Amino acid sequence: MEPNLTDILVLHGPNLNLLGTREPDVYGRETLTDIDAMLAEHARELQVQLRCVQSNHEGELIDAIHGAKERALLFNPGAFTHYSIALRDAVAAKGLPAVEVHLSNVHAREEFRHRSVIAPVCLGQIAGFGSYSYVVGLVALAHHLEL
Ligand code: DQA
Repeated sequence: MEPNLTDILVLHGPNLNLLGTREPDVYGRETLTDIDAMLAEHARELQVQLRCVQSNHEGELIDAIHGAKERALLFNPGAFTHYSIALRDAVAAKGLPAVEVHLSNVHAREEFRHRSVIAPVCLGQIAGFGSYSYVVGLVALAHHLEL
């Protein structure tokens, strides 16, 4: 079967535009452009089409979810993970299969990062593998979609 124009929306939340210089001991030295390029390479191998979007604004992330034409969502909600009921509701309302990803192992960090209000409306959560968390999430979604 021919793939859709884009199959998966990759959504990066707040402060992820600063990757590369942002707390490199925690998040590594790769930029968001590096991560998107690496994901695009894996997507080519998997024959999956991606569209990558980053926003620092909760409302823009909500609008991106509402407007998604894709069949699935790969989402790093950044700090919104831990408290944005509005983003959780957007993911639930849209009903797309979603995987939450984090570069860092949020469960090994401050207690306020242990809770995700978004993961319960996702297929699952992948955390702690640096940029490779996104790749694992992508493979999981492609498998889920049987692409
Ligand atoms: C993060 C983890 C969050 O707790 C943090 O607020 C981020 C990045 C991660 O990818 O490890 O902005 O989502």
